[in-house]
Amino acid sequence: MTGAATGLGLGIAERFVADGCVEVHGLDITPTPDRVVPGLQHRTVDVGDAQEVDDCVEAILTAAGRIDILVCNAAIMQDRHEVLQTPDELVERVLRVNFGGVFNLCRAVGRAMKDAGSGRVVTVSSQVAETPWPGMAVYAASKAAVTTFTRAFALEMAPYGVYVNTILPGTMDTNQMRDSFAGLGRMTGADPESLIAAKRTSMPLGRMGTPQDAANLASWLASDQASFSIGGVFDLTGGELWSRS
Ligand SMILES: NC(=O)c1ccc[n+]([C@@H]2O[C@H](COP(=O)([O-])OP(=O)(O)OC[C@H]3O[C@@H](n4cnc5c(N)ncnc54)[C@H](O)[C@@H]3O)[C@@H](O)[C@H]2O)c1
Repeated sequence: MTGAATGLGLGIAERFVADGCVEVHGLDITPTPDRVVPGLQHRTVDVGDAQEVDDCVEAILTAAGRIDILVCNAAIMQDRHEVLQTPDELVERVLRVNFGGVFNLCRAVGRAMKDAGSGRVVTVSSQVAETPWPGMAVYAASKAAVTTFTRAFALEMAPYGVYVNTILPGTMDTNQMRDSFAGLGRMTGADPESLIAAKRTSMPLGRMGTPQDAANLASWLASDQASFSIGGVFDLTGGELWSRS
């Protein structure tokens, strides 16, 4: 489980512990999670660093023997920039973490799942992979890469009994969402809190998504109940994606 120190990742990891997973490992670049969850083992890892990921996965496999479930959730939001003002460094950093992180984990854990002949992989993309907004082209492209990669990986892993799917969150109430609206405020001069309030009101269900909403979907996708879905792009937007609210 990556990006488990806060937000959706912490909610999903907490749910896996409650579901009875024998060991739950949270790989996150942030050394201290928002709160201590008994049963969640924190590991400080940069998912964009292939060597760090390989070493961490090897250590878990050596100790535990197998990895049954992988959730690739860690990502960073980009500072809001129009493409014409976007620095090279931003492109490199966002793609390295958001796409490279998913690739590094899927490659390392996928090898072990192939050998085991089973496994569940859930990646976390974004609705902006489908309907991007101005000022976040690189983030949106990194998430489109995650969606497409997930589908290709699902086809490659299907013969080995490994089920791979992705989740497409909409506006979820987390730190990343607050950072994103702060960036929009800087770009437009609008008050971020007013932007957040307006977004909340415009949502079809009258609320943003929560870590628990993400946990409900991830828990199902990681279970045997999701028995005939591979390469699926699962809407977690509360209708925001297709209603363009
Ligand atoms: N919050 C939203 O509205 C929203 C919408 C669409 C998609 N998403 C996606 O959902 C996922 C979770 O989002 P969130 O809102 O919980 O984000 P968040 O920013 O609150 O948490 C992301 C976590 O990833 C970790 N992380 C960042 N870079 C890392 C790195 N290099 N290596 C390891 N860990 C790293 C952070 O430390 C943090 O704990 C992300 O993939 C995000 O892009 C979120």
